[in-house]
Amino acid sequence: MKILVIGSGGREHAIIRRLSADSPAPDLHAAPGNPGIEALATCHDIAVDDLDGQVELARRLEVDLVVVGPEAPLVAGVADRLRAAGIAVFGPSAAAAALEGSKSFAKEVMASAGVPTAASVTASDEDALVAGLDRVNPLGDVPFVVKADGLAAGKGVVVTPDREAALAHGRSVIGAGGSVVLEEYLDGPEVSLFCVCDGERVVPLAAAQDFKRALDGDQGPNTGGMGAYSPLPWAPEGLVDEVVRTIAQPTVEEMRRRGIPFVGILYCGLALTARGVRVVEFNARFGDPETQVVLERLASPLSELLLAAARGDLQQAQAPRWHDGAAVAVVLASAGYPAEARLGDEITGIEEAEAAGAHVLHAGTGRREDGALVSCGGRVLAVVGTGEDLQAARELAMAGVERIELQGSLHRTDIALRAAESERSGAGEAGPA
Ligand code: AMP
Ligand code: GLY
Repeated sequence: MKILVIGSGGREHAIIRRLSADSPAPDLHAAPGNPGIEALATCHDIAVDDLDGQVELARRLEVDLVVVGPEAPLVAGVADRLRAAGIAVFGPSAAAAALEGSKSFAKEVMASAGVPTAASVTASDEDALVAGLDRVNPLGDVPFVVKADGLAAGKGVVVTPDREAALAHGRSVIGAGGSVVLEEYLDGPEVSLFCVCDGERVVPLAAAQDFKRALDGDQGPNTGGMGAYSPLPWAPEGLVDEVVRTIAQPTVEEMRRRGIPFVGILYCGLALTARGVRVVEFNARFGDPETQVVLERLASPLSELLLAAARGDLQQAQAPRWHDGAAVAVVLASAGYPAEARLGDEITGIEEAEAAGAHVLHAGTGRREDGALVSCGGRVLAVVGTGEDLQAARELAMAGVERIELQGSLHRTDIALRAAESERSGAGEAGPA
């Protein structure tokens, strides 16, 4: 099977790594790919946002399947273009990707489908902003949640107890011509669940947890994600089934009813609140860095699953099976991330990290003219450890991180820490927030 993966990040490296383990191994291509992906796939120098170039490449290669990694080309319609050219594609149409591209659209779909989520108000002017904040948080007794309505790479959301800071974020988005979604604050541990969808059916993958804040102890600004782990030993039994039944399946049905079937990953970002599971956000693609741990645990073929979904025929694929044990990913980010990442620093020690038992997925890496590997994005690498439990996986990931040199880089030291401790002490339910 010939597969083209669109994208250049750690998520795409993880997808390609897992596809390359299928038997028989698919003929793998990436556009544009990255220096890590190069070892596993033929990379083609076509930008993610060059939709004409991507479609032309898929045609020329006569691929059996295109897997679209990032959200931007989906929202821009790359899947529509590929389908129109008769090419099977794993990823939603532009209209369906609006579940991620427009938070207000996602809220409206959830309301129609009866899917539990935070109460919210959309505001596109100053008066509505002020009134909306008072409506969703009338006593000002919990943090305010202010989200830019459009795509913002995980950085358009401000969660703050400071009403002035909430107003300031809202004003800056509105001032730039956008609108904001103001939400009720959801308190409780977060879970990411990827659901493979074929427009009609839903097959869940394993749940993971992402660490969104930049610094240890969930301090600092929101980022695209600083680390992840799977499985979640503290998650309530039946959680995945409940999410499929009450969230993913009703959403997929509502989209189909509207004539915009959802094919691809419906990423359910969830909060487990005292009042039950609530949707924090939907994304229309695999999450990054959760994919780096979820696919590491997948024991059944990935290519056949994604192709079956792309063909609207998920019942043809084997149900996913999972390796025992756990996976932990720790992201190494450039100095200054997320505010202003410094780029162009040399990266060394990847071989040493792998010799220590971790494996290293490339995200924001590139080659300098002299061939040296350098940073070229905010999140540079994800260092992944696997083991019999979270503690063992964490130790390998951290051992790997310690061997990598990247000037000024930052990483969190507490990825999966509390979950690993409670798993070893058998604390079960007392899951980390
Ligand atoms: P989003 O881009 O919508 O996923 O938001 C990014 C992050 O902000 C989430 O992963 C949460 O950590 C936090 N967040 C978003 N919405 C809420 C909410 N309603 N209540 C509490 N935290 C939230
Ligand atoms: N890890 C969060 C995301 O992929 O959106």
